[in-house]
Amino acid sequence: MDFTEVVTSRRSVHEYADEPLDDETLETIFENAIQAPSSYNLQPWEFVVLREDETKEALREAAYDQEHVTGAAASVIVLGNKDPEAHAETVADDMLEKGYLPNEEVRDSILENVAGMADLPEQERRVWTVRSTSLVAMALMHAAWDEGVATCPIGGFDPDAVLDAFDIDGEQYEPVMLMTMGIPAEDAGELQAEAKYRRPVDEVVHYEEFAPEREAPAVPADD
Ligand SMILES: Cc1cc2nc3c(=O)[nH]c(=O)nc-3n(C[C@H](O)[C@H](O)[C@H](O)COP(=O)(O)O)c2cc1C
Repeated sequence: MDFTEVVTSRRSVHEYADEPLDDETLETIFENAIQAPSSYNLQPWEFVVLREDETKEALREAAYDQEHVTGAAASVIVLGNKDPEAHAETVADDMLEKGYLPNEEVRDSILENVAGMADLPEQERRVWTVRSTSLVAMALMHAAWDEGVATCPIGGFDPDAVLDAFDIDGEQYEPVMLMTMGIPAEDAGELQAEAKYRRPVDEVVHYEEFAPEREAPAVPADD
C-alpha cells in the first residue's frame, strides 16, 4: 500500500477474524513502528503484547469490558517510561558516533538537559512521555495496516487496573494506550463503511495566526 492508501483506508476495527498473529508479522510491524520520532530520540515506549486468552481477559477487565480486547488476536499495552534518563546514554553515544553531535561536550550537555527533565514534577514527565509514546502508537496503527493487520486504539481503560493486573511499576511507566490488533473479519463493518467525518482542513489549519473564530466558508447563494 502506498502512504495515502494506508492513511485513508485505516479504520478502528472491532471485528476480527479468528486467525493468530505470528511473531514474524508482529516483528515487522514493530520494527516499522519504532521508527517514530521521539523527544531527544529517547524512545520512552515499551509494548506488552497479549495473545493468550487469560491475559487478554485480564486486560479486557481493565478496559471496561470492551469486547474487542479479547476478540482481537493480540491486544497491546503501550507504555511510556516517565524517566527521560532511562536510555539517554545509549542514545547520546549513538548521536555522537554518527556525527549528529559535534563532540563529547555537546553530548554531555545534552545528558545534563535530560537529567534536568528527569527532575521535573511527575505531571510534566507524564506529558513528556505521552507525547512521544502517542506518536509510536499512531505509527503502530499504520505499520500494522500496511501488513493487512487492523487495529483499534483504546483510551477507555483504568490505568491503575492495567498496572495492577500486569504488575507494572506505575512510578516509572504510564499506560498511554491500549491497542487491539488482528486480521479483520471479512464482514468487519468499519472496513466496508466510508471513512468517518473529518473536520475539514480549512477549519483546523491556521496560517500565520490562530483564528478560532474564523468565519465559515461562504456558501453560494441560491439563485
Ligand atoms: C486516544 C483515543 C482513544 C480511543 N479510545 C477508544 C476506546 O476506548 N474504544 C474504542 O472502541 N475506540 C477508541 N478509539 C477509537 C476512536 O473511536 C476512532 O479512532 C475514531 O472514532 C475515528 O475512527 P477511525 O479510527 O476508524 O478513523 C480511541 C481513539 C483514540 C485516538
